[in-house]
Amino acid sequence: MNPLTAIPSSLDIKKIRDQFPVLHQRVNGKPLIYFDNAATNQKPKQVINALVEYYQGYNANIHRGIHTLAEQATKAYETTRHSMQKFVNAEHVEEIIFTRGVTESINLVASSYGRVFLKENDEVIISGLEHHSNIVPWQMACEEKKAKLKIIPITEAGEINLDVYQNQLSARTKIVSINHASNSLGTINPIKKIIKLAHEVGAVVLIDGAQAAAHLKIDVQAFGCDFYCISSHKMYGPTGAGILYGKKELLEKMPPYMGGGEMIKDVTFEKTTYNDLPYKFEAGTPNIADVVALNEAVNFINELGKDQIAEYENELLAYATKQLSAIPSVKLIGTAKEKVAVQSFIIEGIHHFDMGQMLDTRGIAVRTGHHCTQPLMERLGLEGTVRASFSVYNTKEEIDELIESIKRIINFLK
Ligand code: ALA
Repeated sequence: MNPLTAIPSSLDIKKIRDQFPVLHQRVNGKPLIYFDNAATNQKPKQVINALVEYYQGYNANIHRGIHTLAEQATKAYETTRHSMQKFVNAEHVEEIIFTRGVTESINLVASSYGRVFLKENDEVIISGLEHHSNIVPWQMACEEKKAKLKIIPITEAGEINLDVYQNQLSARTKIVSINHASNSLGTINPIKKIIKLAHEVGAVVLIDGAQAAAHLKIDVQAFGCDFYCISSHKMYGPTGAGILYGKKELLEKMPPYMGGGEMIKDVTFEKTTYNDLPYKFEAGTPNIADVVALNEAVNFINELGKDQIAEYENELLAYATKQLSAIPSVKLIGTAKEKVAVQSFIIEGIHHFDMGQMLDTRGIAVRTGHHCTQPLMERLGLEGTVRASFSVYNTKEEIDELIESIKRIINFLK
């Protein structure tokens, strides 16, 4: 039994918390309670140390030098590629492209794949649950190609309406792009089914895994998806790094996204030949340090075990949801059956910003607003919500403090 959580858990939460220096501080005079994990989660010492060790020990440009530091840096960078291959269970290591994160990965596919394979009157399908980063790149691609963007509607609980989706699919559908888990509501989408149905009409499928990578098992071969996108900073890694997984045969047919050094084989003023995968898509000096440190984030997750992380976070979510729903003026937003540890809510008569600010004065960090999902908020008839999102280092005691604080703020503002 873990003393901090009082739930049976194979995880030692106190030991885990000790690995996160940022958690051990006071904010506005109160111990920090960090419930903004869906925006970015905190970094364990091993990730921070990897950054320091890189800059202090072997900072050098990669794939270019023959000197010792360059070789060391190249090895570390490519080690992370192999770790990420295992992390998502890709068949080939060259299917892992390093990007700045999910936003860049989606833009890469929308721009490169869209440029070649989208034609006038073709259709792209996304869902009503998407983050702006999985809406705007497709709007841009559709506008350029005179293709049509279709939106799968969602239910009041925040689940995708699969019947409508099935009817939306046709031979005109070229791309389906859906998140694995919703950042605003936490809904886990039935991506296997979505992918299967899309493939039946010959469409390719991109999965935005931003909110899934730290919580759910990822197996791109079992999912059958064509593209899968991950941001490092949402899985305990540094900001500014991430991956695009793409099926080799598709990546080979796609033109480069950016031109520059590294992505070429040979350049003359008349013609340039492009490099092999994955380097064709990695123009310029990449974000070496953050990619190197991402390897430690993978190690951190693997050491704890995804199943254990999910089990513990589900306990936290169930605990928080039960207590929040017992407060009469609180309305839960996002009540899908399958969820990651995210709970949005609104409070009758209190603006979400006011609640967020008052919680901050008590040292509690939550996100408020539309969460970069304005169309979703519009569908739900809301301007925004308060969102608490949980991670493996959070505790039931912290949730008790959140609940107590919400009750006090409601009484104070009444
Ligand atoms: N996408 C991030 C969030 O949900 C920033 O907060």
